[in-house]
Amino acid sequence: MAKMEVKTSLLDNMIGVGDMVLLEPLNEETFINNLKKRFDHNEIYTYIGSVVISVNPYRSLPIYSPEKVEDYRNRNFYELSPHIFALSDEAYRSLRDQDKDQCILITGESGAGKTEASKLVMSYVAAVCGKGAEVNQVKEQLLQSNPVLEAFGNAKTVRNDNSSRFGKYMDIEFDFKGDPLGGVISNYLLEKSRVVKQPRGERNFHVFYQLLSGASEELLNKLTLERDFSRYNYLSLDSAKVNGVDDAANFRTVRNAMQIVGFMDHEAESVLEVVAAVLKLGNIEFKPESRVNGLDESKIKDKNELKEICELTGIDQSVLERAFSFRTVEAKQEKVSTTLNVAQAYYARDALAKNLYSRLFSWLVNRINESIKAQTKVRKKVMGVLDIYGFEIFENADNSFEQFIINYCNEKLQQIFIELTLKEEQEEYVREGIEWTHIDYFNNAIICDLIENNTNGILAMLDEECLRPGTVTDETFLEKLNQVCATHQHFESRMSKSSRFLNDTSLPHSCFRIQHYAGKVLYQVEGFVDKNNDLLYRDLSQAMWKAGHTLIKSLFPEGNPAKINLKRPPTAGSQFKASVATLMKNLQTKNPNYIRCIKPNDKKAAHIFSEALVCHQIRYLGLLENVRVRRAGYAFRQAYEPCLERYKMLCKQTWPHWKGPARAGVEVLFNELEIPVEEYSFGRSKIFIRNPRTLFKLEDLRKQRLEDLATLIQKIYRGWKCRTHFLLMRKSQIVIAAWYRRYAQQKRYQQIKSSTLVIQSYIRGWKARKILRELKHRKRCEEAATTIAAYWHGTQVRREYRKFFRANAGKKIYEFTLQRIVQKYFLEMKNKMPSLSPIDKNWPPRPYLFLDSTHKELKRIFHLWRCKKYRDQFTDQQKLIYEEKLEASELFKDKKALYPSSVGQPFQGAYLEINKNPKYKKLKDAIEEKIIIAEVVNKINRANGKSTSRIFLLTNNNLLLADQKSGQIKSEVPLVDVTKVSMSSQNDGFFAVHLKEGSEAASKGDFLFSSDHLIEMATKLYRTTLSQTKQKLNIEISDEFLVQFRQDKVCVKFIQGNQKNGSVPTCKRKNNRLLEVAVP
Ligand SMILES: Nc1ncnc2c1ncn2[C@@H]1O[C@H](COP(=O)(O)OP(=O)(O)OP(=O)(O)O)[C@@H](O)[C@H]1O
Ligand SMILES: [Mg+2]
Repeated sequence: MAKMEVKTSLLDNMIGVGDMVLLEPLNEETFINNLKKRFDHNEIYTYIGSVVISVNPYRSLPIYSPEKVEDYRNRNFYELSPHIFALSDEAYRSLRDQDKDQCILITGESGAGKTEASKLVMSYVAAVCGKGAEVNQVKEQLLQSNPVLEAFGNAKTVRNDNSSRFGKYMDIEFDFKGDPLGGVISNYLLEKSRVVKQPRGERNFHVFYQLLSGASEELLNKLTLERDFSRYNYLSLDSAKVNGVDDAANFRTVRNAMQIVGFMDHEAESVLEVVAAVLKLGNIEFKPESRVNGLDESKIKDKNELKEICELTGIDQSVLERAFSFRTVEAKQEKVSTTLNVAQAYYARDALAKNLYSRLFSWLVNRINESIKAQTKVRKKVMGVLDIYGFEIFENADNSFEQFIINYCNEKLQQIFIELTLKEEQEEYVREGIEWTHIDYFNNAIICDLIENNTNGILAMLDEECLRPGTVTDETFLEKLNQVCATHQHFESRMSKSSRFLNDTSLPHSCFRIQHYAGKVLYQVEGFVDKNNDLLYRDLSQAMWKAGHTLIKSLFPEGNPAKINLKRPPTAGSQFKASVATLMKNLQTKNPNYIRCIKPNDKKAAHIFSEALVCHQIRYLGLLENVRVRRAGYAFRQAYEPCLERYKMLCKQTWPHWKGPARAGVEVLFNELEIPVEEYSFGRSKIFIRNPRTLFKLEDLRKQRLEDLATLIQKIYRGWKCRTHFLLMRKSQIVIAAWYRRYAQQKRYQQIKSSTLVIQSYIRGWKARKILRELKHRKRCEEAATTIAAYWHGTQVRREYRKFFRANAGKKIYEFTLQRIVQKYFLEMKNKMPSLSPIDKNWPPRPYLFLDSTHKELKRIFHLWRCKKYRDQFTDQQKLIYEEKLEASELFKDKKALYPSSVGQPFQGAYLEINKNPKYKKLKDAIEEKIIIAEVVNKINRANGKSTSRIFLLTNNNLLLADQKSGQIKSEVPLVDVTKVSMSSQNDGFFAVHLKEGSEAASKGDFLFSSDHLIEMATKLYRTTLSQTKQKLNIEISDEFLVQFRQDKVCVKFIQGNQKNGSVPTCKRKNNRLLEVAVP
C-alpha cells in the first residue's frame, strides 16, 4: 500500500500570503504590509515564486531544529510554509535527481543575514545528504571551514557585528548519489585596510581579539603578546568588546575547527605567529631624524618591538630595520636607494601589515581547500553557495575603494539576477513565442558598464591613472573621471563638465557619486589610486622572503631575488574585476536559486520592522517587478525533450517511447492527463506551466507511477527469475528423466533379455529333450528291432536246428499218436454210419472223450448232409407240397392243437373232383380260374349253431361257396375282401372268415366254418392271398373271437366239452351274443 502522506500546502494556516505572487492587490504598500505581518508572526521567509525573501529576525527562532529538517526533507517546494530549507531541499534534489548543478545566490545588505543563510543552507544539505564515516568527515570539514574563515575574514561593523569582510563562494561537490565529496572555496578581495585602521564603532578582524582573549598565557608568552587590547595600535579600543560575543570561547572554537579541517599543530601555530607579528607591527613607531643632506629620515622609536617581531618570524632585524628606512627602486639595471621619511615609513609598515594579513588569509583559504578538496576524479555535481559582502553605504562620504569594489560586486549580482529572472524570463517568452506583455524593470547593466567598461569604465580609468607616468594622485584620477564619465546618467560629480551638480552641496569636491541600483553612493576619492596599486616596497617583500619563518617566506614569493619581476603586478581593481567575471561565468552555467535577504532595521534589534528601510531594499532589489513578471508568466518551463522524458511514463501513448516530435508527445501527455489548457502554453522549444501546483501534480503522479513501474520491474524481474529457474528445473528434469528412462529402458531390456534367455533356454531344453527323446526312442526301436531280429533269427535258427534236438521227440510222438487215434476214429465211424433217413435218430457212441465235440459236430454235419441228400431227390411237385407244409408249420406249429395231426396228412387241395364229377359240371363251367381248394365244409348257421354242408372253392382270386348237392354257387367273395381268419387254439376244425366291412360279400356277415382240413385250407388261403394280393392274411388264433353276423357281433367261445357228446365238437348258440363251441 502506498505510504499515506499528509498533503499540505503553503496555503495552509497562511499568515498574509506565503507567496507574493498570490498578493492582491499588488503594490509596494501591500507588499511591505505582508512582509511586516509575517515578520511580526515570526514568519521571516516569504516566496516570490521560487525566490526566497528572508527578513533578518535578529534573534534565534526555533525553526531550524532537526525536526524541521525532517519536515522539509523530500517535500515539494510549495507544500509547507516558506522556508530556506524548502529552497535548499529543492536545490539539493534537483542536483541529485536531475543532475543539474546548482548555485545559491544570497544577496542583501550588510547585516541582512546572508552569511547566516549560507550556513543554514549548508547545514541543511549536510543533514539530508548521505551518511557514513567518510561522508561525515567531509561534511564536518566543510562546515568547520566557516568558523576559521569568519575569525580571519569577519569583523564587527556598525551594520553587523559579524560582517563578512571578504567575498566567499563555495562549491560543494557531490557524487552521483548526492553524497558530498568535498568542496572548493573562492575568496574575493578581503577588506585588508581594516587591519591597520577601522572606522569608528568598528573592530579589526575577530581573530586579533580572539587570540588576545582566548590564548593561554603560555601561548601569549610564546608569541610575546599581552592580553591587553590597548597595548596594540591596530586594535580600535572603543568597540573592542562586542555584546553577546565571547571572543575567548570563539578562539577555542576556531582552534578546534582548524584541527577538524586538518591544520597541523605547527601550521596553526605559524598562523598565530603571523597574526601576532601583524599585531606587533602596528606598535612599531617612527621618529624623524634630520640628515646631513637636509632631508628627514625616519628612525624606529623603540627597537624592542622590532626585535620581538624578528625573533618571532626569524627575520634579520637589521634587514627589516633597513627596509623601513630605505626604499630601493630598480630601473634599467640600476638600483637607486632613497630614504623614507616618517610618513613613508608608516605607509610601508601598514602596507606590510595589510599584505601579511591578506596573504595569510588567502593562504588559509588555499590550505582549507587542500583539506576539503574532493579525493576522487569522478564527475561531480556541484552546488555553489555565494555569500558576498552586502551592498554598503557609509554616511559622510566615508565610502572608499573597498565600498566601491563591494558595491560593484553587488551590482554584478543584481545583473545576473536580472538576467536570469527578469530579462531572461521575458526574453524567453518572446523567443518561445508565448504571448507576453512586457513588464518594465530597471536594468542595471548600464551601471555595471560605467564601472567595468574596458575603455571608459571607472576601473579602467583608475588603472590608467595608476600606470600613467608622472604625478598621479587621487585628484588627477577624479579629474579623469570627470572628463570621461561626466555625461553618464549614473555618475555624479561636482567637477564634472555638466553643470548639473555644480550647486549640489551634498557632493564634496573630492568625491564622486554613483547611482547604484540600490541607491546613490558617495565615494571619497582619496586612497583609490593607492589601494588599487596595492604597493609593497620590494625591500619589505625581500625582507619577508628572507625570514626564517617558512609560512611568511612562502607568502612573499616575489621577494626572492632570483625571481625579480619588473613587471607591475595587476592592480587590485583589475584583479577583482577578473575574478568577478569568472564568478559570473561560473554562476551562469548553474541553476540559480535566490535568497534575497532583507534587513528590517538598522539597530540590529529584534521585533523592529522599519518600513522605510525595508521599502528601500524592496525597491532596489526590484522585488515588485519580480512578482509582476512572475505573475504574468509561468512558474515553470522546460524544454520538450526533458519534459517528455520526465513525464512520459504518465501516459500510455508516450510510454515507453514516443515516436515523433517531443512537442507532440507533450501535447498528447497533457491532454491525456487532463490538465486544463489555461494551465500551460506551448513555446517553440519549451512547455510553460503556469502554476506550480500543476507541476507538483505532475511530480506526484510521476512519483506514484515510478513506484508502480518499480513494482512492474520487480514483477517482471521476479517472473524472469522464476521462469529462468523453471526452465533450468525443466531442463534438469528432462535430463534426469532422460537418464532415468535410459536407466529404466536398460533395466527393462536386461530383464527382457534375461527372460528371453530363460525362455530360449527352456525352449532349447525342451527341443533338445524332444530330440533326445526321439533319439532315445529311435535307439530303443533300433535296439528292439535288433532284439526282435536277434530273437527271430534265434527262432529261425532254433527252428532250423530244433529237429536236431531230443527235447522235441515227446511232442512228435504225442502228435503222431493223436493222428493215429483220429485216423482210427474216422475209419471206425465209416463203418458204423446210420441210415440215410433224415428221421433216423441213431448215431454211434463216441469212442474217446476228447473227441466229444468233434463227434457231436460230425453228427450234425452228417444229419445236414443226409437232409440235403434227401431234399435233392424231390420233384418240383413235391417241393411245392413241402413248401406248403413248411408254411403251415410256421403258421400253426405250437399254436393250434390240431396242427400235429395235420403233419402226416398230405395236402390234396381238390378233394372234390369237380372236373370228373358231372354233378358239378355247371359249377365247373362257372369257374374259369384254377381251383386251388375244392372241399366240403360245414357252414355254421349263425342263428342256431347248426351246420350245413357247403362246397368251399378257392381260386386264384375268389372264395366261393356252393351248394353241395346242386353245386350252385351260394356266395362269391373276392380275396381282397377277406380280412382275417380266426380259429381256436384247440384241437377243433372251426374257423371264421372275416370280410372287409362295407364290401358286397360282407352284407350277410362273416362266415363260420368247420372243416377236417382246417390247417391245409388256412395255409392255402394264406398263400393264395399273399401271392394274389401281396397282403399277409391275418390269422387270429384265440379261444374267443367276435364274428359279424349281419348287424350283430357274436362272440364265438371255445370251451372244454364233455366226452359224452362224442369226439365231435358241438356248437351251440347260447344267446344273441354268444356262440359256444364245446371241444372234447
Ligand atoms: N535567520 C536568522 N536567525 C537569527 N538571527 C539571524 C538570522 N540571520 C541573521 N541573523 C543575525 O543577523 C546577524 C547578521 O547576519 P549575517 O552576518 O548573516 O549578515 P550578512 O548579510 O552576512 O552581512 P554582511 O554582508 O555584513 O556579511 C547575524 O550575526 C545574526 O545575529
Ligand atoms: Mg556575511
